[in-house]
Amino acid sequence: MENMDDKLEKVNFLGGYLASARSEDQILDMAIHITRDILGFDHAIIRLLEGDALLSKKYIGFPREAADIIIHLDEGISGEAARNGKSILVEDTTKDPRFIAGVENCRSELCVPIKYDEKTIGIFNVESEQAAFFSESDKRLLETLSSQMAAALAATRLREELAKTEKLSILGRMASSILHDIRNDIHHLNISSDLLSRKDVPPERVVKLAGLVKKSADNIYALIEDIFDFVKTGRATLVKKESLIAETLEPVAEQARELGGNRVEVKLFVEPGLAVSMDRRRFRRVMLNLARNGVEAMPDGGTLTITAKKADGVVKVKVSDTGVGIPKSNLAKIWEPLFTAGKKDGAGLGMAIVKQIVEDHGWSIGVESEEGKGTTFTVRMG
Ligand SMILES: Nc1ncnc2c1ncn2[C@@H]1O[C@H](COP(=O)(O)OP(=O)(O)OP(=O)(O)O)[C@@H](O)[C@H]1O
Ligand SMILES: [Mg+2]
Repeated sequence: MENMDDKLEKVNFLGGYLASARSEDQILDMAIHITRDILGFDHAIIRLLEGDALLSKKYIGFPREAADIIIHLDEGISGEAARNGKSILVEDTTKDPRFIAGVENCRSELCVPIKYDEKTIGIFNVESEQAAFFSESDKRLLETLSSQMAAALAATRLREELAKTEKLSILGRMASSILHDIRNDIHHLNISSDLLSRKDVPPERVVKLAGLVKKSADNIYALIEDIFDFVKTGRATLVKKESLIAETLEPVAEQARELGGNRVEVKLFVEPGLAVSMDRRRFRRVMLNLARNGVEAMPDGGTLTITAKKADGVVKVKVSDTGVGIPKSNLAKIWEPLFTAGKKDGAGLGMAIVKQIVEDHGWSIGVESEEGKGTTFTVRMG
């Protein structure tokens, strides 16, 4: 027989080991196997409390039907141990009227509550086919083991809660980024419908405006899809396709022209044939946010220039404006969510969204700016 010191050492070892377990099942599995090693029981069962029922979570040597029996707090030895939060050592089960037989040949039993923070969260029950098999020191060992198990269980529960909270907070951030872009699309819808309701709009312009209305509406749908996508899979998935840069930038330049009215000139230069693998819709979100910031930086008019070129094997898209510029002290802050400066109703989300999408693609973005002269953003797509 092992001496008490060896047993204690094993219990301590188990404690450290349990803390590294990742799931409830893993913890219970480790606990029951190491306990068998230490106490040498014939059968054992761990039940956790749900409401007023003790449900079997892990067992060794019990027939399935016996383990599946639900024990309530007012039943049997397990019920009493859980109810009172006190261990029960039964030397001879044939003489104990509280005993509910799960397995034939069970002659002695030790049942300890699993407690965390003074609260009972379950019971750990070990049984032997010999009478008076478990001792008082076994009882103390099992109590120590159980409290280590309880701490490990509490830690995994906390981790699961945190993961849930994290998912919610990402969802919250996504929701605000998406609402921000929906607001922009509604802004486009408003401008287009104002223009469309004028009597003097030439027919080809009507066609163009109708196209913009359609694009904005499609975009709003797609953004809502993003949220559903995330709720289902836990992350936003990029839908990448080899895409012609010119095809994605032309509608952006068009929208920038609508935003800028007749005070802003919008120029677009794209090297012919440039193509990049990208999530086209998200790339459009990037470009629209950059273009809109550019237009907003030129309240007294100016020029917005969008260029796309390949240099050293990398496609670079630049968005330049001749606007107010960004003070040096703000240059690093513009990427932070909620940072906004010099605008009536800026949410401060545009650049944070831009950065996120650019990084999701494995690209990079940089900015150069001079106060009073203008700003240039460069997206390196690769
Ligand atoms: N092209 C630019 N010229 C001058 N300042 C800019 C430019 N782009 C960004 N900024 C500065 O960076 C800040 C952050 O931009 P960001 O797009 O994140 O937020 P916002 O435009 O204020 O609000 P919104 O969430 O509506 O886009 C802006 O408020 C502005 O001060
Ligand atoms: Mg912005």
